[in-house]
Amino acid sequence: MFKYYPVKVNKNINTFARIEIIDTYNFIRMNKTAIVRCEHFNSAHRLHNTNWSDEKNLAIFGKCNNPNYHGHNYELEVKVIGDCNPETGYVIDTKILSSLIKDKVLNRFDHKNLNLDTDEFETLNPTAENIAMVIYNLLKPELEESMELRIKLYETPRNFVEYPYI
Ligand code: NI
Repeated sequence: MFKYYPVKVNKNINTFARIEIIDTYNFIRMNKTAIVRCEHFNSAHRLHNTNWSDEKNLAIFGKCNNPNYHGHNYELEVKVIGDCNPETGYVIDTKILSSLIKDKVLNRFDHKNLNLDTDEFETLNPTAENIAMVIYNLLKPELEESMELRIKLYETPRNFVEYPYI
């Protein structure tokens, strides 16, 4: 059943097949539980594409292209989806999840300049989209393979991204 997941329907899949896949997807979800851990970090960044002129960077990224960087208070929601262990009653122990996020994400990015202080964003533009993807890739290998992971990252109270979006 897992091979049908994630649901990605392209133009070549007919309507019948599409319905079947979505039903399978919903069936899988009925047996899972999601647990969410909320964390917080502060980072500085600059959005900049080195392939573009300064004018184009300013036109596209505006204030976020400020050469001397600027900061955000990032709010992070890490959602782990899995089976509830019958012995513990946990999907994952929140103490374990919390220290995992601390080790892999917060220690790396909190109070750092993402462009200058991290390997991950040395060449990758540190947009909220890319930060969420990087966080996913840092955490996913640390979880049991059967667990699914979703990252929600607020860059401002009004702007957030979700990765992966399924
Ligand atoms: Ni910014």
